[in-house]
Amino acid sequence: MKVLVVGGGGREHALCWAIGASPLCDKLWCAPGNAGIAQEAECVPIGAEDMDGLIRFAQENQVDFVVVGPEAPLVAGLVDRLDALGIKAFGPSAAAARLEGSKGYMKDLCAKYGIPTAAYGRFQDAAAAKAFVDREGAPIVVKADGLAAGKGVIIAQTVPEAHAAIENIMGDRQFGDAGNEVVVEEFLAGEEASFLAICDGEDFVSLASAQDHKAVGEGDTGPNTGGMGAYSPAPVVTKAIEAQVIAEIIRPTMAAMKAEGAPFKGVLYAGLMITEKGPQLLEFNVRFGDPECQPLVMRLKSDLLSCLVGAADGVLRTMDLLWHDDVALCVVMAADGYPGAYEKNTEIKNLAAAGALENVTIFHAGTVAENGRILANGGRVLGVTARGADIAVAQINAYAAVDRIDWPQGFCRRDIGWRAVAR
Ligand code: AMP
Ligand code: GLY
Repeated sequence: MKVLVVGGGGREHALCWAIGASPLCDKLWCAPGNAGIAQEAECVPIGAEDMDGLIRFAQENQVDFVVVGPEAPLVAGLVDRLDALGIKAFGPSAAAARLEGSKGYMKDLCAKYGIPTAAYGRFQDAAAAKAFVDREGAPIVVKADGLAAGKGVIIAQTVPEAHAAIENIMGDRQFGDAGNEVVVEEFLAGEEASFLAICDGEDFVSLASAQDHKAVGEGDTGPNTGGMGAYSPAPVVTKAIEAQVIAEIIRPTMAAMKAEGAPFKGVLYAGLMITEKGPQLLEFNVRFGDPECQPLVMRLKSDLLSCLVGAADGVLRTMDLLWHDDVALCVVMAADGYPGAYEKNTEIKNLAAAGALENVTIFHAGTVAENGRILANGGRVLGVTARGADIAVAQINAYAAVDRIDWPQGFCRRDIGWRAVAR
């Protein structure tokens, strides 16, 4: 079949790497892609948010199947439009994508259907939000309702900090319309994990567990990023926790979305806090995690494309996924300054030598090729991913590849996987 992947980050490189290897895939395009994706797919210069351009391309090229990587086009209704034209696509409808597109919607759904999540209030008025903070006290968490590229969440240690966050979001409109509303919620303590399931509206198959590292600095310090590294499996998600997540969060959400008239198809990504009371839902994403997708696809034995098509066709009941037993770990290399301002167009050398190491795959997140050179053109630039018999070996393999890469203007955290190693 002829497949189009939408997006151009590390997640989409990992998706193209897995989809391109499928016996079902005859032709693979990626829009817009990047310099690494160009090794797996034909990149076409159409932005992931250019809906008209993507649809025109899919029609003109008789694309059989579209896989949408990022959340923005899903929330904007790309899959609905493709569906209406009879073009098969993987990802939720706009109505179902509200699970990520509106934190208030997600919280209300959890409240209505008894899905475990932090206690919260939902506000369109800054004064009311501040009064709620005054009543509840700190620490407390303030979230912009809409999409804010992972930056719309503020963990306030004090009441004045929480007030300032509300002011920034609602008064100064730091995240634009995403801040028309805020969710203020209880602070949860515990260890975080990601649990992803591929869903067909009715049934689902679980992916292996994973853990992200959101903070920019070692020891999980400093500002939050899109994710500085990830590994799979995450030992905090024991068999018992996994069963609880499925029984208390994934299944009830699937049933709830069906009852609400918006059955969920696509990747349901539950961001979890494993607390003393058990797993609590922090957020839903409606797509693969980035960088969680990179280690997940490296551990996947089964054919990813068949599973994605199975989800779109509603036949997941008959499917299962097989995994390699080893651990995979992805170290993100980012441009100096990220998640703040950073330089673009710096040259990265020695990628081929680093990628040639055994059990290593380098996924590109923000690169362009220019006259045979690879240049960084984003904040998160590479996802150096390695497999190993256990977390320590995977870590050694990944950093061995990182150390071969010659990119003076880049940096990475040196402690990806530390929680699993500490266990
Ligand atoms: P979110 O985008 O909602 O996952 O939030 C981003 C990050 O903020 C999460 O990965 C957590 O580290 C943190 N966070 C979000 N909500 C809470 C909460 N209720 N309690 C503690 N930490 C939270
Ligand atoms: N790695 C976190 C996310 O994809 O949202």
